[in-house]
Amino acid sequence: MSMSDISSWRSRERIQMPVYTDAAALASAEERLRASPPLVFADEARRLRAELAAVSRGEAFLLQGGDCAESFEQFGAGSVRDTFKVLLQMAMVLTYGAKVPVVKVGRMAGQFAKPRSAPTETVDGVELPSYRGDIINGFAFDEASRSPDPERMIEAYNQAAATLNMLRGLARGGFADINRVHAWTLDFTAEDKAAAYRDIADALQDTLDFIRAAGLSPRKSEELATVDFYTSHEALLLEYEEALTRRDPVTGDLVAGSGHLIWIGDRTRQPDGAHVEFCRQVINPVGLKCGPSITSDDLKVLIERLNPDNEAGRLTLIARFGAGKAAEHLPRLIDTVEEMGANVVWSCDPMHGNTIKSATGYKTRPFDDVLSEVRDFFRIHSERGTIPGGVHFEMTGQDVTECTGGLRALTDEDLSDRYHTACDPRLNASQSLELAFLVNKLMRGPEIRGQAAASA
Ligand code: PEP
Ligand code: CO
Repeated sequence: MSMSDISSWRSRERIQMPVYTDAAALASAEERLRASPPLVFADEARRLRAELAAVSRGEAFLLQGGDCAESFEQFGAGSVRDTFKVLLQMAMVLTYGAKVPVVKVGRMAGQFAKPRSAPTETVDGVELPSYRGDIINGFAFDEASRSPDPERMIEAYNQAAATLNMLRGLARGGFADINRVHAWTLDFTAEDKAAAYRDIADALQDTLDFIRAAGLSPRKSEELATVDFYTSHEALLLEYEEALTRRDPVTGDLVAGSGHLIWIGDRTRQPDGAHVEFCRQVINPVGLKCGPSITSDDLKVLIERLNPDNEAGRLTLIARFGAGKAAEHLPRLIDTVEEMGANVVWSCDPMHGNTIKSATGYKTRPFDDVLSEVRDFFRIHSERGTIPGGVHFEMTGQDVTECTGGLRALTDEDLSDRYHTACDPRLNASQSLELAFLVNKLMRGPEIRGQAAASA
């Protein structure tokens, strides 16, 4: 990799990134980020790669989730802790279903920049630049807020650092102790009366009781009292990404220091584009969103470019087609991967293909559509004998009303109650857990596991 040049993306077409008009302010912000400690380190990125390699072989399962867009205004200990907690709860349910370790990756501590479908937004005849995430500009609809401000990169970095500090504490400090996990499961099932869920909760409880009765004392086990938790975000704003990239002094590898896993969005995955050019060069695990418009030829080139040595754990393909569309697209992409003999993790993002406008004017996602895409993902992998490696959700630990449906049957009219997202609608805590229980069921179905189909 001696030919690597982490600035080479700058000669590619600049898409979905702001045009900064104040060059001196931009240079100053980049300079300060370059002088700051990276948020994550080479060995952590390598460890996640190794864990994702296990996912690609069906020996572990990937759970990735968090905000669509982190926000400066809604930042606080409570929101970080609650999202972390729900992710752990989901992971516990999934572990129980899959009987394999769950690799936990937050859309957290860096998920600030958003691609948009239109460069500008018009309200009452006034046209202003679209909101692109708090790392770029402000949500308020006025000229000052909507102007891209490089100083926001510094605020995003500081918030990401504080978030990561808290996550590291939560993951190591006893909050993640398995002994605390049974209590929430019982809460959840007491409140929502689905018998199937109660069965799983009871079985989980039995297992913990058994461990204790057998004298194994989960309380004393470091393994059961702490978790590994990783961060991820879309590597969209490349000035920020480049300024936080570091060279590993031991190996010379380039490491994106902004988060453990970075992904390329469905709108910025042009094989010759700036985002692919950047991500190609860092050793972090990389995700690639695959929507309906990706051609099999593009996927082939992208796999060759992003993972030339075909290393397991390097590349995660995140399928996001929309309910009813996976059957049209996923099989052809799986065929491409199989023909190449490419080592990838297949993950399912059932959120981004299922965004609609509700009758009451809110952007929402019907829970049944989310579910249906997850089901199709598992079914198609089962039919082909390939491995459904993970899931990718937009969710929060807060009790928001942004997606319709679920056990509590949120309606279009309910959306206005607590609609707080800075961008796309998220699953709330209860919907997230409900989904985890359903994925658990899909993973337990004997016809569902990739290996089962392959060896049949
Ligand atoms: C996202 O994950 O927030 C996103 C914008 O996804 P996609 O690139 O798949 O549209
Ligand atoms: Co989103």
